[in-house]
Amino acid sequence: MELLHKGKAKKIFADSKSKKYVVIEFTDNVSAGNGKKKDIIKGKGNLACDLSEFFFRYLKKKGVDTHFVKRLDGSQMRCTKVEILPLEVVCRNVAAGSFCKRYGIKKGTELASPLIEFFLKEDKLHDPLISEDAAIRLNLASEFEIAFMKSVALSVNYYLTVLFTQVNLTLIDFKLEFGKNSDGAILLADEISGDTIRVWNSKGQSFDKDLYRKDEGDITTAYSFLLEKLNETKPNKVLQREEVLYVSVMPKDGIKNPPGEVTKKALIRLGFGDATEVRMGKIFEIHLSKPITSGLIEQLTLMNLKLLSNPIAEKHNVRMEM
Ligand code: TMP
Repeated sequence: MELLHKGKAKKIFADSKSKKYVVIEFTDNVSAGNGKKKDIIKGKGNLACDLSEFFFRYLKKKGVDTHFVKRLDGSQMRCTKVEILPLEVVCRNVAAGSFCKRYGIKKGTELASPLIEFFLKEDKLHDPLISEDAAIRLNLASEFEIAFMKSVALSVNYYLTVLFTQVNLTLIDFKLEFGKNSDGAILLADEISGDTIRVWNSKGQSFDKDLYRKDEGDITTAYSFLLEKLNETKPNKVLQREEVLYVSVMPKDGIKNPPGEVTKKALIRLGFGDATEVRMGKIFEIHLSKPITSGLIEQLTLMNLKLLSNPIAEKHNVRMEM
């Protein structure tokens, strides 16, 4: 197989069957501190592949679009070929790792609600934290793609948190990567394994790569334990999370908007003389029983054109946040 890319812990090969796919091999290489600490740990690749397979299959069942296609022999899986976006998406429930260092917060502090952070994938700069606005201005992702990745990360957080809770484990944080397939759809990609998540038991013991980062234990024992615990879970008992999409429909620029004009006059009459123009539109709040996918957005855009808006006079916008 032709080697397309060699990363720190994975190799990507061309798939001999189809250009639509690649073969991802999880290697036994493990590193930390941007490659400062490096080792080969026998069996790690296979366990990371097993865990990723478990999570991708589970998330797919819950409606999350992922690149996973099929488990192959050894530590390989067939995946949809994607162009990875240059951003790492981290979701945190409890303060740990770089978050504690950055803000001087005590490890283990619970966050009021899940936090999504973006990091620029650039080894030379040690993958710095990047604001959503900076990522958009630098054309690393569009505003819509940022909102989309946040929405998927929050869905993944819900589904994994509930599953781990079934076996008395706590999902502290995790890192996701996303990629675009040949149709432009964004899929959850890369891996989800002990290398990319933090999981603690009720005593605060880690079962993830922190054991390696801090020289505190054997990661293959920890990853085997995670896999064993996950196999005891009941994924069917995890309820579907409700997602909400907002469709705003506004009159196009230059199109007269009598309701807006009436409102403007009323505002001025009431002493709000600074209003120079008021445009009135409508918002549809659409509740869904499944995570948001590129396919669903496409469907909704067609629906907008047919049902929710008048494309000649109105412009529409699908949003994941109000
Ligand atoms: P952090 O606290 O070091 O920023 O890590 C947050 C989460 O991201 C944690 O679950 C570990 C994961 N992670 C990776 O998967 N790859 C990385 O290179 C780093 C730094 C963290």
